[in-house]
Amino acid sequence: MRILLWGAWLAVYVAFLLFLRRMWTGKHLRSPLAKSLYLSMMNEAGSCHDTNQWYVCHTDFLNKSLEAAFIQCHLDVETQEFLNRSREKSTWLLTQMYHSFISTVFGPFMSRTNINGLLGRGSMFVFSSEQFRQLLGVTSDWRTKRLLDLGAGDGGVTQIMSPHFEEIYTTEVSATMRWQLQKKQYKVLEIDEWQKAGFKYDVISCLNLLDRCEQPVTLLNDIRRALEPTRGRVILATVLPFHASVEEGGKWVQPSELLNVQGQIWEDQVNSLAGGALWEAGFTVEAFTRLPYLCEGDLYNDYYVLDDAVFVLRPRDSIPGEGVPTLGLP
Ligand SMILES: C[S@@+](CC[C@H](N)C(=O)[O-])C[C@H]1O[C@@H](n2cnc3c(N)ncnc32)[C@H](O)[C@@H]1O
Ligand SMILES: *[C@@H]1O[C@H](CO)[C@@H](O)[C@H](O)[C@H]1NC(C)=O
Ligand SMILES: *[C@@H]1O[C@H](CO)[C@@H](O)[C@H](O)[C@H]1NC(C)=O
Repeated sequence: MRILLWGAWLAVYVAFLLFLRRMWTGKHLRSPLAKSLYLSMMNEAGSCHDTNQWYVCHTDFLNKSLEAAFIQCHLDVETQEFLNRSREKSTWLLTQMYHSFISTVFGPFMSRTNINGLLGRGSMFVFSSEQFRQLLGVTSDWRTKRLLDLGAGDGGVTQIMSPHFEEIYTTEVSATMRWQLQKKQYKVLEIDEWQKAGFKYDVISCLNLLDRCEQPVTLLNDIRRALEPTRGRVILATVLPFHASVEEGGKWVQPSELLNVQGQIWEDQVNSLAGGALWEAGFTVEAFTRLPYLCEGDLYNDYYVLDDAVFVLRPRDSIPGEGVPTLGLP
């Protein structure tokens, strides 16, 4: 009798989830309220499937110095593979139900990042190997010594960059993500340790961290100091429009330092960030592009997409042309 009841309950639950998924991909749940309820985890996320729009930049709205730095990317094979994989995973009904169940139970007091790390789900995609090389202006056989990937998440993006480096350091505040990083054999440094390691880094990546950390201004200044002063490069990605909020347990809170980014359209936000916070921290933009920031889906969506600006920065007083391509070579 008990088993029967349980079975019936399970059937109702499955039917309900399937119904939700149906609704979600249909018109009903696209109402702003339902969307914001469900998407509290990821502001602005949605399922914009017009992939051509993901890469578009209106360069005539950019400041003069930035216009020449823009690099046009497109939907390449590696990105398409990630999308296909996500689409496939989102159809694994039992896995997705288990994930949904765990999130519901732990959601109120555990951060989304910690839950994802625990379940090994919600992998992210910022750039393909080719897009990474194109941004840095290097070839596939380019090698150098040290990479520091700040706020590395589960290390999925670190992996894309890793073939170019001898030593890879990462940082993470989320305990389960640190565990994921250690599983992948990356050195995990404390968040107050990497600044005083006693050496400089050739490349520091700070991907989708500025809007998710307590002290973005301090972070940018620390990056500037820890970077190899002439040939070092920063690869920085941030979701635009810029909207800062930090995970604290199961809640989102305001960070203690506020980064000032203004502008209505994507291009204005880029102007403001490059001419403001990045400039003040001692950086100039060498190259940048617009890319979709992709996240694996769940029961309700095949994947999620946010709008990323990805910059390559060099120290403002270094010599242009003395850049990455010769770094590490005798
Ligand atoms: C949006 S995720 C980005 C993950 C990955 N870099 C990517 O681009 O997909 C931001 C990550 O930064 C971590 N984080 C937040 N504040 C941090 C800090 N001060 N130092 C290191 N990591 C931090 C969070 O735990 C979270 O995993
Ligand atoms: C992705 O899936 C589509 C349609 O299912 C297919 O046409 C395409 O070849 C796949 N691409 C890759 C790179 O796997
Ligand atoms: C670019 O223009 C914006 C206004 O849109 C301004 O605030 C910013 O400082 C400018 N940046 C540079 C590098 O001149």
